[in-house]
Amino acid sequence: MNDLSLGNGHPNGHTGTKPRATFRELLLEGEDAPDAAPQVLEEQALEIVDPAHQVLDVQESNESLPPVEVRVRMPAAVPTTQVGSVQVECADALSRYDSWLRPTVIVSDGPYGLGLFPGEMPTVAGLAEWYAPHVAAWSRLAQPQTTLWFWCNEIGWATVHPVLALHGWQYRSLHVWDKGVAHVAGNVNSKTIRRFPVVTEVCAQYVREAELPTGDGQVLPIRHWLRAEWSRTGLPFNKTNEACGVKDAATRKYFTQDHLWYFPPPEMVERLADYANLHGRAEGRPYFSLDGHTSVRAEQWAKMRSKWNHEHGITNVWAEPAVRGGERLKNGAQAAHANQKPLRLMEMIVKACSDPEDVVWEPFGGLCSVMVAALKCQRRGFAAEINPDFYTLAKERLRAENSHQRLPFML
Ligand SMILES: C[S@@+](CC[C@H](N)C(=O)[O-])C[C@H]1O[C@@H](n2cnc3c(N)ncnc32)[C@H](O)[C@@H]1O
Repeated sequence: MNDLSLGNGHPNGHTGTKPRATFRELLLEGEDAPDAAPQVLEEQALEIVDPAHQVLDVQESNESLPPVEVRVRMPAAVPTTQVGSVQVECADALSRYDSWLRPTVIVSDGPYGLGLFPGEMPTVAGLAEWYAPHVAAWSRLAQPQTTLWFWCNEIGWATVHPVLALHGWQYRSLHVWDKGVAHVAGNVNSKTIRRFPVVTEVCAQYVREAELPTGDGQVLPIRHWLRAEWSRTGLPFNKTNEACGVKDAATRKYFTQDHLWYFPPPEMVERLADYANLHGRAEGRPYFSLDGHTSVRAEQWAKMRSKWNHEHGITNVWAEPAVRGGERLKNGAQAAHANQKPLRLMEMIVKACSDPEDVVWEPFGGLCSVMVAALKCQRRGFAAEINPDFYTLAKERLRAENSHQRLPFML
């Protein structure tokens, strides 16, 4: 089986084993990048780089060699569009993650293994390996506050779930997008289908458990960290109840070792930290510290888990017709993209786990429905779309959205 831990590809699709090109082998390659940020172009114009994007010293050229035509490869600037608080790039997302602000929300709506958009594999074979480098990058750049929404069909999600788990994404819930029977009305050949028509997609929610440094040099998942820090004080565990001013809730909820563990509220952690630092063994202080110097404060602790803004009445079954009417982007009579997602659902998930100004990622943009939602909800956004045609449509859609215009393809 392939290695699912780091993925099997270099961010740009290179293997990384290619020998460094000699100076003679360099190629001149420029690319139109009308939307690239000017400062990027300026910086690049000053550099001579090899195909591995390493700066070469021009002095390397050997005077005794016969003159050769020296052609220099300039790194192609990434076409980029900034609209209000969101940015979309025409690129492989793998090559862009490190340049984006760290996310509070990642909405992944990439390949399903159905062959629906150019370049998508027709089956789920290879889907796990395809996602592995993306998942590795998301894990590296996520924060304890980050929520991941992973859209797919059932078998695609089931195939990729082990990769997500391997990289520390904790499964929270599966949501079913029910498009309703109207989605198949009139389109089912009852003689050949030999199954019930599918009118659903799924969206799995994942979060991360923070890992924190103890005062004696370990790095532990948050629930083990709490116990380890209290143990270091030399105080009995029943004193955690006294510290929190409760009868038995601290030992029962925050320090339990079973599955009934609860994330302690910020004010409780501050009380625990203060009590431990006052009554615990002097030589071990500070206790419950994130930086090794001061004990954790309530506002720091609040950032140690994913955000959640609860709205009553929403369940894990999302009844919503497939996108049609004015919201559906068209290419003539045809839908411009086979997978355009409903804005209502994208807005709902973005709002549920972030606040205004938080950062939302949409690695597989398509028509960038998540960026439209981010724009409407005052979030900052970063998206990539690898296909130039979809990128252009997304760019125009966002510009129209930002200026409240309606474009011909939206009519
Ligand atoms: C399922 S569609 C997304 C549809 C989108 N949610 C919407 O509402 O319009 C997936 C998109 O990801 C793009 N894509 C595939 N691989 C990519 C990659 N490595 N980097 C960026 N985009 C990619 C495809 O071209 C396709 O448009």
